[in-house]
Amino acid sequence: MATDRLVMTRPDDWHLHVRDGEALSDVLGATGRCFARAIVMPNLKPPVTTVARAAAYRDRILAAMPAEAAFEPLMTLYLTDNTTPDEIRRAAECEFVHAVKYYPAGATTNSDSGVTDLARAMPALEAMQEVDLPLLLHGEVTDGEIDVFDREAVFIERHLDRLVRDLPELRMVLEHVTTSDAVDFVSAAPDRVAATVTVHHLMLNRNALFDGGLRPHHYCLPLIKRERHRRALVEAATSGSPKFFLGTDSAPHPKGAKESDCGCAGVFSAPNAIELYAEVFEATGRLDRLEGFASHHGPDFYRLPRNRGTITLTRSPWSVPEELPFADSTIVPLRAGGRVAWRLED
Ligand code: NCD
Ligand code: ZN
Repeated sequence: MATDRLVMTRPDDWHLHVRDGEALSDVLGATGRCFARAIVMPNLKPPVTTVARAAAYRDRILAAMPAEAAFEPLMTLYLTDNTTPDEIRRAAECEFVHAVKYYPAGATTNSDSGVTDLARAMPALEAMQEVDLPLLLHGEVTDGEIDVFDREAVFIERHLDRLVRDLPELRMVLEHVTTSDAVDFVSAAPDRVAATVTVHHLMLNRNALFDGGLRPHHYCLPLIKRERHRRALVEAATSGSPKFFLGTDSAPHPKGAKESDCGCAGVFSAPNAIELYAEVFEATGRLDRLEGFASHHGPDFYRLPRNRGTITLTRSPWSVPEELPFADSTIVPLRAGGRVAWRLED
C-alpha cells in the first residue's frame, strides 16, 4: 500500500545558485524551508575566486536569510587559470569553504572567467588533492564543433577519465549529470568520484524543451537529454548507491531573462524540489531510498555530519504558483501552474 506520510532526516542541497543582492532574500527562503545546508555556487559577477570573497558572500547570505531559518551556506571557490596553491590552502584552513568549482570558460551563466585549459589549473588541483578539498565539475566541453547534446559525454571521454587518473586521490563530484555516459563513468570510478542529480533531469526529457512550442523555463545547462538518459539517471539516483546524491542546481533568472531572444540557462526548482524528487522516487516504487539520496550520501561524501532534525512530507496535492517575486521582477518556478503530489509540512 502507498504511504501517505514520509518522515526523513532533514536533507541538504549539494548544488545551488542563490545569486546576490536584492534577489538573495527572494530565493533563500525557498531553500531554507527544507534544506539545512547547501553547497553555494560561486558564479557571481565577479566570481567568488578567493576565500575573502567567499567570506563576504557568506555574510551577505546569512544577513538575507529569514531570521527563523537555521541554514548553513557551504561555500565554494571558483577555479580559474590563475588560482594559486596558496589560495587553496587558505580555503582548506577556513571553516566555511568546502569545495572548488570548475567551469570550462564560456560553458554557462557567468563562466567567462572559467578555466581555459585544465593543464593551467594543475598547480591548484594538485594543492586540492594535497589538502583534500573536493573538485566540483561542470562537465561539458565548449568546443563549437561538438553538438550541444553531446558535450557532457565528450567531456568525460576527453578530460574526466584522465583527470581521475592524473589526480589519484582528489575527490570529485561530477555535477548535475545528464547522461547514461555520466552514470556509467561515475558508477565504475573509484569511491572518491560522485555525482549530483537534479530533479528536472530526473523528471524531464528533451521533448519538454519543445512541448507545443519553445519552453524557455526548461532550458538549463547541461541540457536535458533523451528519454533513455533520463531513465539511466532515475535508475542511478534510486539505486541506493552512495555515489549519487541530491543537488538541485536551482538557478533562478528573472522571467524576462528566460523569455527572451537569447534566454538564460537555469531552472528554478527550490520552491518544490524535495516534493518533486519524492514524486520521482515514488514512481519507481523506491520512496524508501529518498532519504539516502537526499540526506545521507551527500554529507558522507563531504565528510560532514548528517543532519539531526527531520522533515515530513505528506500526500496532499497543491498548486505551484505561476510566478514568484524576484528582486524588481518575477520568476517562474519549475512546474509553474501545475500540481505537486507531496507537501512539505512546516
Ligand atoms: C546555472 C546558472 O544559471 O548559474 N545555470 C544552469 O542552467 N544550470 C549555471 C550552471 O550551473 O551551469
Ligand atoms: Zn549549477
